[in-house]
Amino acid sequence: MAVKQFMGYAKWWILSKCGRKSPLVITVGIGYACNLRCRHCHIDSMLKANPGMKAAQTYDEIVADLEERYSSGARIAYFEGGETTIWKDGDKDLGDLIDAAKRIGYYNVGYTTNGTTGRIFTNSDVISVSLDGPKEVHDYVRGEGVYDKLMATLNGLEFSGSVYANMVLQKGNLEHIRETAEIVRSNPRLAGIVFNFITPPPYELLPSPEEKRKAIDEIASLKNEGFPILNSKKGLELLAEEDWESRCPKYLSAFTLPDGTRKNGCPSEGTESCRHCGYDAVREYYLVDRGTPSTILEMFPVFARSKD
Ligand SMILES: C[S@@+](CC[C@H](N)C(=O)[O-])C[C@H]1O[C@@H](n2cnc3c(N)ncnc32)[C@H](O)[C@@H]1O
Ligand code: SF4
Repeated sequence: MAVKQFMGYAKWWILSKCGRKSPLVITVGIGYACNLRCRHCHIDSMLKANPGMKAAQTYDEIVADLEERYSSGARIAYFEGGETTIWKDGDKDLGDLIDAAKRIGYYNVGYTTNGTTGRIFTNSDVISVSLDGPKEVHDYVRGEGVYDKLMATLNGLEFSGSVYANMVLQKGNLEHIRETAEIVRSNPRLAGIVFNFITPPPYELLPSPEEKRKAIDEIASLKNEGFPILNSKKGLELLAEEDWESRCPKYLSAFTLPDGTRKNGCPSEGTESCRHCGYDAVREYYLVDRGTPSTILEMFPVFARSKD
C-alpha cells in the first residue's frame, strides 16, 4: 500500500512538472463554529465583523468538492474549522466526512481538533491536536481547563494512526518551546510536534524577526537532540523567512472555506497576512515542489500515507 501510494505521489509530481498544475492537498473548512476563543485565532472576530455570513458547508457540498478535487489529482484531505468535531449536518458528522474522503480514494485524511469536546473520530489516518504550551501557557492561550481536557482526550484515545501536536508560536509562549517538546516526547500517544508561527491577525502577538530566529535555532537543536519534531530540517530553516508571496507554490494546495469560497493556494494570498506567513506547511510544499528528497522522505510517513 505504501509503495503504491508513493508511486501515486511520484506520478502527481511528474505530471505537475509536465504542466498539469492541480492541487495535491485539499483543506476543507467545514464550519466556523467553535467552543473556544483562543487568543491567536481571528475566526470569532471575523464572524462578528460579517454578521449573516455562511459559516458552514453542508455534507453534500463537502462531498462534491472532495470528489471534484480527487478527480483532478488531490490525494490528501484535511478538515479544518472552527472546531471540526462539533460540525454536524442533520445526522452527518465529521466521521461521515472522513468515511466519504476515504471511500473516494484519498490516501491521507486528517483533521485538526482542540481535543476538548468529548468527541474524537478514529477513522482518519492522522489527527492533529493543538498544543500551545505547558498547562498554564496552553490555558492562557486557549482558556481555563483546556489543557487537562486535551490530555484526558489523548489518554483515552484508541487510534491506529498518527496523532501529532500543532503549536502556534506567538508572543506569550516563545519561552516554552523545550517544555512543550518534552511533553510531546513523553506522551506515548503523540507521534511528534509541528511548530508554526502565528499568521496575523492579531498583529500584537506576532514575534519579531529576532524572536523567530531564536525560536528556530532552539527547535533545530531539539531536533538534533532527537526530539520528535515533524517540521523537516529544511522547512524549519525556511520558517525564518516571512514573505512567501512570490515563492508559495499556490497550485499545490487548495482551500474551500466554510462560506463555500474555493481557492487554489491560500485564502490569505495578496493580503498583509500573507507577508507574515508562519505556516510550516507552505515551506514543506515549496520543498516538495522542488523535489527535495529529504523533505519528501520526512513528510511521507505521517502526512502523506494511509494508516493501513
Ligand atoms: C483554526 S484551528 C481549527 C481546529 C481546532 N479548532 C483547533 O484549534 O485545533 C486549526 C489550527 O490553526 C491554528 N491557528 C489559529 N489561528 C492561527 C493563526 N492566527 N496563525 C496560525 N495558526 C493559527 C490553531 O492553533 C490550530 O492549531
Ligand atoms: S479552538 Fe481552534 S477554531 Fe476555536 S478559537 Fe481556538 S484556534 Fe480558533
